[in-house]
Amino acid sequence: MFEKIAAAPADPILGLTEEFKKDTRSDKINLGVGVFKTEDGKTPILNCVKKAEKRILESENTKSYLSIAGVPGFDKLVQDLIFSAKSDVVASSRARTVQAPGGTGALRIGGDFIHQQNVSSTIWISDPTWANHMKVFGAAGLKIERYKYYNKETHSFDLQAALDSLKAAKPGDTVLFHGCCHNPTGSDPSAEEWETLGKFTAEHGLLPFFDFAYQGFSKGLEEDAAGVRTFEKYHKEFIVANSFSKNFGLYNERIGGLTVVCANSGDADKAFSQMKIAVRANFSNPPAHGGKIVAEVLSDPELKKEWEDEVKAMRDRILDMRKLFVEKLKAEGIDWGFIVKQNGMFSFTGLTPEQVDKIKADCGVYCVRNGRINVAGISTKNVDALVKAIKHVLA
Ligand code: LMR
Repeated sequence: MFEKIAAAPADPILGLTEEFKKDTRSDKINLGVGVFKTEDGKTPILNCVKKAEKRILESENTKSYLSIAGVPGFDKLVQDLIFSAKSDVVASSRARTVQAPGGTGALRIGGDFIHQQNVSSTIWISDPTWANHMKVFGAAGLKIERYKYYNKETHSFDLQAALDSLKAAKPGDTVLFHGCCHNPTGSDPSAEEWETLGKFTAEHGLLPFFDFAYQGFSKGLEEDAAGVRTFEKYHKEFIVANSFSKNFGLYNERIGGLTVVCANSGDADKAFSQMKIAVRANFSNPPAHGGKIVAEVLSDPELKKEWEDEVKAMRDRILDMRKLFVEKLKAEGIDWGFIVKQNGMFSFTGLTPEQVDKIKADCGVYCVRNGRINVAGISTKNVDALVKAIKHVLA
């Protein structure tokens, strides 16, 4: 029965890690998958996480199931991060959150929810985007359309092009936005552009769906929520899928949240009942450990402060590497000043797929084939070799 199955190509991002591990060159550089790395190339466990885990291990007395929605209190803690303290969404109890296995799990539950509840049959996704978006929302049964996002000449978000393509969207369609640190381009709308997008999507009856995976990696935990919070002004109803993989470094614990915002609390209760049906059908109820860590840290002021400092340290290191990289490139006659204007973990270098293949084959530098690099993979130790490799493929 299975003999007719065709082999699938390797995943464009996670497949790179497998390939990198097999590469025997000692000077290889991994700028593929989006994980934070220290100067020594390590992806550490945050101190606040270690402390929370210790407390959990000492106090935990059962491994019985969580409720379908997850760890008690997780929902409110997530909402406090996403929305401002004065938010009407929170004050009027218009949002409901379920814990999900990572940001990806949250996206899928959100996709299932809008498809199964006949909210939308089509989702508009930026071009370019994270490759897995198409698989996740396609698997949820949604039709996928693309809107233009990026201007290769200016290396930045192209508002006019995005609006022009979204004019073809029909009322009731969903539009996926990256809350901050757009993956793969690192280019986000400005504050004014978020306003325009919020107004435009409201006027056209579109449902905003935020993939919010990098909160804290652009300007700060509060600042990075500006896009989502701007939309609160224009939309009574929208969706946010958030992830704690990056800002808590909890990659393999698979912990995120799906938040659905409704026009009133009664609608939110009904939506919540259906979100739980989607969870039950996918994985029944979420794994506990990651959710407990996040809840422990966010509900303890001291641990929360330590977490905020650790997020800042990660953000600052990436910014330092952006500056160093640009300086070193400049010294070799390569002007990639746009790298310092891009946000978060990623930069969109403009390297072509052929150049990406060449830099991997000739120099052991691994990037995603669309030219995306993980800036956190750069260090003072590998930056010279990296610049040399880039010069080699640009020649
Ligand atoms: C990435 O874009 O590299 C990360 O979000 C990891 C992943 O799952 O692809």
